[in-house]
Amino acid sequence: MFSRPITRILINNVARRSFSNQSRYNNRQEYQWSRTRSNFARATTNGVAGIALSGGIAFILHASTAPSDNKLATPSKVDYDQVRKSIIDLLDDNNYDDGSYGPLFVRLGWHASGTYSHIDSTGGSNGGCMRFKPESQWGANKGLDLARERLESVYRAHPGLTYADLYTLAAVVAIEEMGGPKIKWRPGRNDHEDGKKSPADGRLPDAAQGAQHIRDIFYRMGFNDQEIVALVGAHSLGRCHLDRSGYEGPWTFSPTTFSNEFFRLLLEEKWQLRPWKGPQQYQDVKTKTLMMLPADMALVQDPDFRKYVLLYAKDGEKFHKDFAAAFEKLLELGVDFKTTDGSRQGKSASLWSRIFG
Ligand code: HEM
Repeated sequence: MFSRPITRILINNVARRSFSNQSRYNNRQEYQWSRTRSNFARATTNGVAGIALSGGIAFILHASTAPSDNKLATPSKVDYDQVRKSIIDLLDDNNYDDGSYGPLFVRLGWHASGTYSHIDSTGGSNGGCMRFKPESQWGANKGLDLARERLESVYRAHPGLTYADLYTLAAVVAIEEMGGPKIKWRPGRNDHEDGKKSPADGRLPDAAQGAQHIRDIFYRMGFNDQEIVALVGAHSLGRCHLDRSGYEGPWTFSPTTFSNEFFRLLLEEKWQLRPWKGPQQYQDVKTKTLMMLPADMALVQDPDFRKYVLLYAKDGEKFHKDFAAAFEKLLELGVDFKTTDGSRQGKSASLWSRIFG
């Protein structure tokens, strides 16, 4: 398919890329120099490819030769069953919220992943960038520092584990431990060295907005209406905090149990605007102790969302199944699972990297 010289340039370029990774550990200056060379080679490669081949192929080449400044994950060395156990040990705490960090861990995994854009393939859980500015400072991520701090001991106890894997696995373990479905999870995310690759703020949803905004945000990640509704069903867990989002209260009476209660309550309770000075939110008429966000209400107001709310309120099993699939997809957005031993390939790996490794 490719002429020999082009193939050689490309293979050399891939070799340069791995050299570039290696040298980061040995010598920073050499790393920077090799990156400069790698960038030059990449520009050359893309130039040649652009002339010789169609635009589509050029895109594949570009994506496959993008420099990687990642700490390479070494998943084979980590005992993930032990990591799971360490996470479970950290979930319960009678002095925190409703007695569990589980809901906060779920929000951590979701916000780490929900920055993804399938338009330019930026964002997503790879890189573990939320521990750096600017992501750590985003208003939408307020309070998640508590989850990251809580998980620090797990990171330290398991050499080879990456933050990016830890943040997503913590969400999966929390859901399973709170009665949710088993979610397929696999390791292999890298840690970036800083937050330079974080996208601009504004990729996570704004709770004050309605159906159009929700679609804009989740379609950008590559989800459809059914997946969106299933995902937001995670609001059966946890609560809003005045000092984080400015909203207040839980969605259900059992905020540490994963269930389809969020959908049932959304449909069956009467909801009214809460009379207070805070941001617009809804409260249940009967007890005035539960809450819904304007964005939650959009799921029953919009007819296309509503049909899935009806479905999931009626069929908890279907909800668990669809949630597991959508959440697995969310946590893997933009992640290329190629590892140091080359044994795994992500669903998102480009054609080029699948052929040439
Ligand atoms: C329209 C989309 C969404 C909006 C507008 C939204 C908004 C919010 C807000 C404002 C909070 C309160 C944060 C705080 O004050 O502590 C929250 C909490 C939470 N969200 Fe969402 N969210 C959305 C989707 C999701 C998704 C897709 C998931 C997971 C799959 C999720 C899981 C959670 C959980 C578990 C909490 C509770 C955290 C805790 O108890 O500390 N949310 N969300």
